Amino acid sequence: THSGTLEGKTVLITAGPTYEAIDPVRFIGNHSSGKMGFSLAEEAARRGARVILISGPSSQTLHNQNIELHKVTSAKEMLAKVFEFYDRIDIGIASAAVADYAPKEVAKEKIKKNDDNLTIELVKTPDILKTMGEKKTHQFLVGFALETQNEEENAKGKLEKKNLDMIVLNSLRDEGAGFKNDTNKIKIFTKTEKKEFDLKSKDSVAKDILNFVESQLLK
Ligand code: PMT
Repeated sequence: THSGTLEGKTVLITAGPTYEAIDPVRFIGNHSSGKMGFSLAEEAARRGARVILISGPSSQTLHNQNIELHKVTSAKEMLAKVFEFYDRIDIGIASAAVADYAPKEVAKEKIKKNDDNLTIELVKTPDILKTMGEKKTHQFLVGFALETQNEEENAKGKLEKKNLDMIVLNSLRDEGAGFKNDTNKIKIFTKTEKKEFDLKSKDSVAKDILNFVESQLLK
């Protein structure tokens, strides 16, 4: 089913966490495994799309050899890689859990544990998806929202602020949703629509998301 429905389309997907270096041995990261993004990449490829997958550190592997995988580490690197391709994509899906802050300076040597307290100054990282939204010409943009409270309000706010066509909400309040699990539970919002889905495997969630994207492209 659905084979060939994305034939001729180029889909760019961000996946996984980013790691922001503190010193040569330490980083700030998060619990993203990359599973959601890799499932989306596999499903888009199955539907005939050219797939560009830009992933932070992840141990996920790909089955489809045609997916173009670009591994990055930090938010800055992810931003630069996305914009190598941005003009030429039809659909952009941001499932990466990008660090919002990074150490202002990376210590050249391993930080010694001399003091009882250690303060690390953090600065904002680039918002990759927001930048994509600002530079949008023809691209159909899909964001994710990972929330713990005021979920729907926050998701709709991100849809608006980042100039997206569609946003996928997952809440850490739902058992089996979000990070690491093989399952997820989502709600999809556009400016005018809302659709709620049951808890299911990330492979099935990827199908639901791409079905929804395809239905929007036909409008
Ligand atoms: O990788 P898994 O373990 O399978 O987990 C999947 C997931 C929980 C990571 C995924 O489903 C998900 O929700 N990804 C988005 C996580 C996130 O960072 O959400 P956010 O609400 O903080 O960000 C909103 C959107 O802006 C996201 O599309 C995010 O990719 C993007 N963003 C955020 C910050 C930033 N600096 N750059 C971005 O592009």
